[in-house]
Amino acid sequence: MSQMNKPINLFEYEFLAPQHLSQMALDYYASGAWDEITLRDNRAAYERYKLRPRILLDVSHRSLTTKILGQQIKMPILIAPMAVQCLAHPQGELVTAKVAADFGIIMVLSTFSTKKLEDVASAANLPKNLWFQLYVHLDRSLTRTLVERAEVAGYQALCLTVDTPVLGRRERDQRNLFTLPLGMELANFTSMANWEIPEMENAPGLSADFANRLSPTITWKDIDWLQSLTSLPIVVKGILRADDGIRAVEHGAKGIIVSNHGGRQLDGAIATIDALSEIVAAVGSQVDVMLDGGIRRGTDILKALALGAKAVLIGRPILWALAVDGAAGIHHLLELLHDELDVAMALSGCTRVQDIDASLVRHI
Ligand code: FNR
Ligand code: LAC
Repeated sequence: MSQMNKPINLFEYEFLAPQHLSQMALDYYASGAWDEITLRDNRAAYERYKLRPRILLDVSHRSLTTKILGQQIKMPILIAPMAVQCLAHPQGELVTAKVAADFGIIMVLSTFSTKKLEDVASAANLPKNLWFQLYVHLDRSLTRTLVERAEVAGYQALCLTVDTPVLGRRERDQRNLFTLPLGMELANFTSMANWEIPEMENAPGLSADFANRLSPTITWKDIDWLQSLTSLPIVVKGILRADDGIRAVEHGAKGIIVSNHGGRQLDGAIATIDALSEIVAAVGSQVDVMLDGGIRRGTDILKALALGAKAVLIGRPILWALAVDGAAGIHHLLELLHDELDVAMALSGCTRVQDIDASLVRHI
């Protein structure tokens, strides 16, 4: 990509992505549930928080490095788990994992990846830059095998997604009768002896591939069961209330991701930046609280960190960059975010991530 055509921010990657994706893939990636109110509000909410910069501090030397679950990362940004990345690029998750490892950040691999978790770990060279996102399958023995495989492959944490007992209704997918293209598969399951499952949920137009692999029977007890299976730390993704945050910590979670699944599950759910403070107040001193949903600018990250998040996860923009320019695209997008956060910190009088405190934001 020539210097002139190169996107200068995340929105420009989003603008270019439709040229590189089928309509069905684009709609699957972009959509939110029902009226997409939460999808929009995840973004709009950031405009309700205003920054209160500090001035006249020497900000000539700055560092964005930080720690998450005790591990050093290059900046307070992780790559969110996102299913079926081969729709964006023939090598899909292999590309994303390698770029994350090279950059020095963490990628969370989806249970519903189109490359096998073992192959993704090899592509990353450094599985220490990988967490495995877990969907608890109705067949718990399949789940147990997935957990064991992730641990053997060197993944550093399990990210248990709890906002998806059933799949949210995305009407664009319903209209398109979304299914995976021929030859593309949920690669983590195809190597298993008992991977074929009967169709369970009647979800017209939604991929049976996903809908039938989620478990509406999942409860808090499953977290205890997972703890008994693995020594990996468990991060619970999809918390929007302080009481659930407290419960997650009581059940041994080492991290919490405040998330509404990018507006793809319960439409009308609270924007994540609005939900963050009460959860940080309840459990922020005990576990690492993270957030995702609608992060598109360095200033969004600054606000989330000021409100107590230890790091944020980026979703869709990674897919746009992967579709537009493969590994180079994701790498460049991460550089853009690094630069934006760096400048936003300098303009707020912060030279280190630890300098970002609650006094920097005010809700208007
Ligand atoms: C997701 N997300 C998701 N989450 C998860 O736990 N497991 C998964 O397999 C997926 N799959 C998935 C696919 C696609 C196409 C999208 C867009 C999202 C949710 C994801 O991890 C994250 O919560 C949101 O995407 C964050 O919001 P933004 O950054 O996309 O606005
Ligand atoms: C999604 C599921 C697969 O959001 O997590 O599409």
